[in-house]
Amino acid sequence: MNLVMLGPPGSGKGTQTKFICDEHTIPHISTGDILRDAIKKETALGLEAKSYIENGELVPDAVIVGVIKERLKQADAGGGFVLDGFPRNLMQAEALDSFSHVDSVVEIEVPDDVIVERLTGRRVCPECGSTYHIKSDPPKNENSCDQCGSKLSQRKDDNEETIRRRLAVYHEQTEPLKQYYKEKGLLHEVDGTKGIEEIQNAIADIIEED
Ligand code: AP5
Repeated sequence: MNLVMLGPPGSGKGTQTKFICDEHTIPHISTGDILRDAIKKETALGLEAKSYIENGELVPDAVIVGVIKERLKQADAGGGFVLDGFPRNLMQAEALDSFSHVDSVVEIEVPDDVIVERLTGRRVCPECGSTYHIKSDPPKNENSCDQCGSKLSQRKDDNEETIRRRLAVYHEQTEPLKQYYKEKGLLHEVDGTKGIEEIQNAIADIIEED
């Protein structure tokens, strides 16, 4: 199963991809996580990506397509993967089709005003990558990770101004992919305003039926 998760920033792609990959034991390939890890390690990729991410803009296609192509060479040998954050525009979708294939696409739909509330309340663990929300999904002990006990932090691009820029980029560049995958008969739309578990069950049904 090669699955693509689509949806605006903060729609729950990362949260739901984690459940799918744990259940099916397949790799969770998040371009955002790859880029943030590169920034943390100060690699050439990280240095190039930093300002784009902090301004809510897309990293250039040539850079990100190269990263995904390399990563999929490893993943394609196994039993599939879930792509979280890629493709993000038509050029990336066509590039993906040229070196791999997509079996199914899940699009998590959430209105913009809900997104702003979600992302300003998101907290992440800098050590193990676990994600929380101060209201809807809080850690058991305030500000510390349930999994590894590290102090939680806020992503630099989770401030209201950058969130609104990310949403504008999403509507302009990523949303046309819904039509692209609809025409291929691969698109499944899920209501992302429901609870985390309800969405998890809806996606599990889609995967089972596919
Ligand atoms: P990326 O890391 O991919 O960010 P994003 O798409 O903006 O998505 P997020 O990670 O912010 O949100 P999510 O949908 O995973 O939501 P989550 O599950 O965390 O990309 C960051 C940047 O990297 C981009 O802006 C760009 O610069 C660059 N980049 C990445 N890929 C690229 C590409 N292909 N090309 C070019 N540049 C690229 O949930 C959010 C919050 O809501 C959490 O707090 C969670 O607990 C909570 N939550 C989740 N589900 C629910 C629910 N159902 N109800 C209530 N709360 C919920």
